[in-house]
Amino acid sequence: MEIDFVFIDSGTGGIPYMLYLSEKYPGYSSMYVADTENFPYGEKTHERIIETLTHLIEKILLIVEPKVIVIACNTMSVTALSALRERFSVPFVGTVPAVKLAGKISTNKKIGLLATERTVQEPYTDKLISDFAPDCTVYKRGDAGLVSFIEHKYPFSTREERFKALEGAYDFFSSRSIDTLILACTHFIHLTKEIQELFGPSVAVIDSREGVVKQAVRLIESSGIDRNGTSLHTSSSVFYYTGNKDEKTIASYSALMKTLGVSWGGMLA
Ligand code: DGL
Repeated sequence: MEIDFVFIDSGTGGIPYMLYLSEKYPGYSSMYVADTENFPYGEKTHERIIETLTHLIEKILLIVEPKVIVIACNTMSVTALSALRERFSVPFVGTVPAVKLAGKISTNKKIGLLATERTVQEPYTDKLISDFAPDCTVYKRGDAGLVSFIEHKYPFSTREERFKALEGAYDFFSSRSIDTLILACTHFIHLTKEIQELFGPSVAVIDSREGVVKQAVRLIESSGIDRNGTSLHTSSSVFYYTGNKDEKTIASYSALMKTLGVSWGGMLA
């Protein structure tokens, strides 16, 4: 089966990227794969991420023929993108921390980068900083607790619980007087509203959705291949997860997809 895009993340983090694409560029068909069996990627080693992701993509390619694969996860992208490009012929679009944009908009040159521990440690991230924000001080924070909160609790959490989950990040960055905060883990985009409210208008909270989605569409358009969507004005997107899950977890993922208008595919067989 042919499809325009496959989006991959360890959980629900990449969903805001897929939704951004279907909103801004209607007419494409997307499949979303949450590798929940291997969540969280941010706590794995470099080698383990490449190995795990390679197996997952081999499995996906037995089921569908995507025109483009969007790695909608910073951790996977900064770690494995070059290995994936060597191994597979399908075009990939990666999601990397929006350091270039931050370097352009920061006026006090103090930038916060909120990510997973793996992203914080990968040399790729430091290279982005030295290439695109050499005149800035970038404070990096890995926040596994926040990733886990968003994956497991966020959809049904109260406002108080969300603000509580953000406390560590807030304390870390507010004492460093940043004026720009990069959401460098896709999961965090689900809490953009709360993060912006917490840091206030003097801090620009940014992410990479626009750049990633534009690049994904550019790749398809430049290949001259027709869209697979049902019409030029509607998009189709369907969610799959990996690994056995209990009924409660399945119910909570499927309720979230319903709220977001994403079709339910179930477990990736
Ligand atoms: N959503 C992923 C990212 O952008 C990380 C989540 C995880 O640790 O699996 O980095």
